[in-house]
Amino acid sequence: MILITGGAGYIGAHVALELLARNEDVLILDNLCNSQRSAIERISTLAGQRPGFIQGDVRNRRLLDTLLRDYPIDAVVHCAGLKAVGESVHEPLRYYDNNVGGSLTLCQAMAQAGVFTLVFSSSATVYGDCCTMPINESCATGQPTNPYGMSKLMAENIMQSVASSDPRWSIGLLRYFNPIGAHPSGLLGEAPLNMPNNLLPFLLQVASGQREYLSVFGNDYPTADGTGVRDYIHIVDLAQGHLCALDALRERSGVNIWNLGTGRGYSVLELVKSFEQVSGVPIALQFKARRPGDVTCCWADPQKAADELGWRASRSLQDMLTDAWRWQCSQLETEWIREAN
Ligand code: NAD
Ligand code: UFG
Repeated sequence: MILITGGAGYIGAHVALELLARNEDVLILDNLCNSQRSAIERISTLAGQRPGFIQGDVRNRRLLDTLLRDYPIDAVVHCAGLKAVGESVHEPLRYYDNNVGGSLTLCQAMAQAGVFTLVFSSSATVYGDCCTMPINESCATGQPTNPYGMSKLMAENIMQSVASSDPRWSIGLLRYFNPIGAHPSGLLGEAPLNMPNNLLPFLLQVASGQREYLSVFGNDYPTADGTGVRDYIHIVDLAQGHLCALDALRERSGVNIWNLGTGRGYSVLELVKSFEQVSGVPIALQFKARRPGDVTCCWADPQKAADELGWRASRSLQDMLTDAWRWQCSQLETEWIREAN
């Protein structure tokens, strides 16, 4: 059985769905601080079977000990965490407590229970302002410019240390680039509870009339059109990468780092233009100053994951945007039906 912390969230829910599709037993632990119970219903509908679900906190050691004792868990995918970069600057202690404290407690409980296989949701943010593109796993980690990024790097360091101390550990640090999109059914996607920070969720709210315009943060970067370039990856490709990592970890020990990206970067304006093409909806833009802490470019070298995991992202930017727009439209429809009743 696989325990997924944060499995009601955007990434964890897609990982749960892929694991269920492969007939794995799944137990989700989530405190629902940034997700809703309805995600579990949606996973169940799509998978045709229910994952186990426990509402609780990954920092709760007693709860973890009980779960690891009472369920036949042999691996953990650790997605639980807070992820809003701007918020982390204002509430650093909450971010360190959750992201570092949660990872520490999880590792302690796993070690005690004798469960040593762990896949961790890390981030390309740990590379900091890396100036060689594409970024491969041997690039040095940088100095993240915000507490969120720092908390990911600290959690990675804890995992590196525990793995060095005991050869039974087998850990995959998955450094995600920019996950976007939704399940092609339109039933599962990202549902930000507050004002979205990320480009695509914000753009979708503009497209659906919930916001007036999209702010483009900086058009004076040294890129082809002056806007920032990122490696956007379809959420289903990303989720499948976790299954490949779990499989590979059965044959490996120590810490393994894998970038999960496509290897191709798109600028903000390229992404907006592609979205307009796939949706037929024009997006109003306002150009603003650069967002503090943003890097100019960030895209992956995905070769190590291809060689060691046999995994490559296969879905195009158009797929990502089509699926995201389908999800946004289905969300709005659900809201209209709820309001009409
Ligand atoms: P999300 O907010 O949708 O999902 C995180 C889930 O964890 C939520 O359901 C939340 O309720 C839960 N959670 C948070 N703290 C918890 C705790 N202490 N105990 C139990 N549950 C808790 O975010 P996501 O996009 O699915 O991200 C998943 C992970 O991937 C996070 O750790 C995030 O930092 C990392 N990550 C995300 C991105 C991205 O762009 N989405 C990029 C790089 C890394
Ligand atoms: N952007 C805008 N307008 C917006 C939002 C973003 O122009 O309203 C721009 C940003 O300046 C950047 C690009 O769109 O150039 C992408 O920004 P996102 O906020 O979508 O993503 P980031 O690359 O800043 O960060 C994301 C996650 C981090 C993760 C990182 C890994 O938020 O958690 O990807 O690469 F660490």
